[in-house]
Amino acid sequence: MLIIAHRGASGEAPENTLAAMTLAVAQQADAIELDVHRVEDTLVVIHDRFLDKTTSGRGPVSQSTLAQLAQLDAGQGERVPTLWQVLECVGARCGLNIELKGMATDELLLPLLEQAVAQLGYRWEQFLVSSFHHPMLARIKGTKPDLRIGALTASCPLNYAEFASELAADAVHLDVDFADPALIADAQQRGLKVYVYTVDKAEDLAQMAALGVDGVFTNFPARSRAQLGLTDP
Ligand code: G3P
Ligand code: MG
Repeated sequence: MLIIAHRGASGEAPENTLAAMTLAVAQQADAIELDVHRVEDTLVVIHDRFLDKTTSGRGPVSQSTLAQLAQLDAGQGERVPTLWQVLECVGARCGLNIELKGMATDELLLPLLEQAVAQLGYRWEQFLVSSFHHPMLARIKGTKPDLRIGALTASCPLNYAEFASELAADAVHLDVDFADPALIADAQQRGLKVYVYTVDKAEDLAQMAALGVDGVFTNFPARSRAQLGLTDP
């Protein structure tokens, strides 16, 4: 089962910061999930639409400037990084699940990933692009069919994983609250990987392992690895 660090190792470092990314790599996460919004013509790594919860700033992320963002404290003296800064920081040492937030964030992504492959040593198969905004995923898949996409849902859809098949997705990303065994089985029968968020509790980890999911998003990569018995002897 893959261990995907949710917003980096965000249980032990400020979420979506370079510190959280560095810690996730050190804790041997198989991949790191992060959230991106658009500021000016740059993808920045932050979860919320508003600055208030995770930074010293106030107001909508989309109405900030890069210069303003650079001044903010994102926790423990960390900054709000750009996606390029995260790509440089991780340096192709593990997979990256880039979750597109907001709207029209897809337009900026492919050139950046091309640059990361050309300049930072990433392989395309290390990237997994996900979103709750399925039209953005469809556009990305249409432009770059070999880029892996993960269809996010926070529900158990009527026709189970059919929506992900329609998107030609490679994975379906399920909310642990709706990780119905029938949905998981349907997704896997369709050839989709099943990754479940956010799984931190020992009981949930054990249940997801018993259901045979392909990976979990966790805020505590090292601890979750150990609880699943995945730690090296
Ligand atoms: O990508 C999995 C999970 O992060 C989706 O929900 O709100 O934490 O971005 P959220
Ligand atoms: Mg996310």
